[in-house]
Amino acid sequence: MNAFEQFESNVRYYCRRWPVVFATSHGSTIFDEDSKAYLDFFAGAGVLSYGHNNPVLVEVALSHLRSGKLLHSLDTFTVEKREFLTTFEDLILEPRDMDMVVQTVGPTGATAVEAALQLAQRLTGKRAVLGFAGGYHGMSYRAASVSASMEGRETVAHIGDFVALPFVKQMTNDDLDLLDRTLRAGVDGQKIGAILLEATQGEGGARAFDPAYLAALRTKATELGIMVIADEVQAGVGRTGAFFSFEGSGLDPDIVCLSKAISGLGLPMAINLIRRDLDTWNAGEFTGTFRGNNLAFATSTKMLQTYWSDNLFEQDTKYKGIIVREALQTIANTYEELDFTVNGNGLLCGLNVKNTELADRVTRAAFDRQLIVETCGAGDQVVKLLPPLTTTDDELREGLQRLSDAFAEVCVASVA
Ligand SMILES: Cc1ncc(COP(=O)(O)O)c(C=O)c1O
Repeated sequence: MNAFEQFESNVRYYCRRWPVVFATSHGSTIFDEDSKAYLDFFAGAGVLSYGHNNPVLVEVALSHLRSGKLLHSLDTFTVEKREFLTTFEDLILEPRDMDMVVQTVGPTGATAVEAALQLAQRLTGKRAVLGFAGGYHGMSYRAASVSASMEGRETVAHIGDFVALPFVKQMTNDDLDLLDRTLRAGVDGQKIGAILLEATQGEGGARAFDPAYLAALRTKATELGIMVIADEVQAGVGRTGAFFSFEGSGLDPDIVCLSKAISGLGLPMAINLIRRDLDTWNAGEFTGTFRGNNLAFATSTKMLQTYWSDNLFEQDTKYKGIIVREALQTIANTYEELDFTVNGNGLLCGLNVKNTELADRVTRAAFDRQLIVETCGAGDQVVKLLPPLTTTDDELREGLQRLSDAFAEVCVASVA
């Protein structure tokens, strides 16, 4: 029995899918302790959008560590936080005409969601939440209770003041009627104070909402005095091309949750963006010991300066997203009788193979070819591709070839 099986809880998961011991990494490649190289199209569930050990960001981190600068600071003023706040304002918020302030929270996506829900409840006096099928917002008690994708996991408590509507790929009048009726009806006698959604869902199947629906949802929420919370934990920070996955949709959220890729280097960090006029928190009303990770502020600032000073990186991600979706479409066409469908926005892509076992076998066959991919979506039926945004064209094509070979192995056997 190895050390992991002997000493680690049974809850361990990804190691069962990829049963090797990882040792080093750079860019889009991870090496195991025998120096075997794996192309990583999982990227730490979206944390490593800027690649493993991005050299520019590693340099910033090393010089920070060597210089005796603060590492931990709660929410006191620090040089690194000032740099981060001003850079974020100058490069991200101001150019997008977003008049929002930054709340630093404990370093997980779930914490950001918790804070957003508490603020929305405080602002509206209404505690029920509307979400969407496939939505995933984290494993803390409240975040899990508003994650429709958690249904069926008997260990997750549903608090009972949450309702989920179906995902909307292409809006119809029925979708609008249902939204209106649900928002007015509330949940179990509780009025709805917040709509929580991922404009492009990650765990729900790498799928983007119809922008027209997001705009209509915004209008309806404003009419009824309901807060709109955009969970950009997975789809944000450039994953879909644009910095925010809701950009251009008219969603215009009141609160935005960011985590995962925001530090650039994979360090723990989460923030919420709050519309300035809604920032009614009292001092210290929401706290958290690890709100001030200065190493993460420093690498985040550098990531923003390096990749978000112009729109070239955004265009490159969109272009790479097209390459990935074309490759997925080719696979779908090859096995037409299996009726696969392509999902995706930017480099958050997936192939819905509509069969849990098939999706699982494909990810295992990919791993045999030294390609790391995961599944997501209802019943884990979507083979999901989440490569670092810094993946080179050659690496992207190589990974897609390995995926295609994995499908060939599994599907030929299935069709035969
Ligand atoms: C959209 C979204 N929100 C929230 C979370 C939870 O983040 P964390 O695991 O850091 O709590 C995740 C994690 O996958 C996510 O994808």
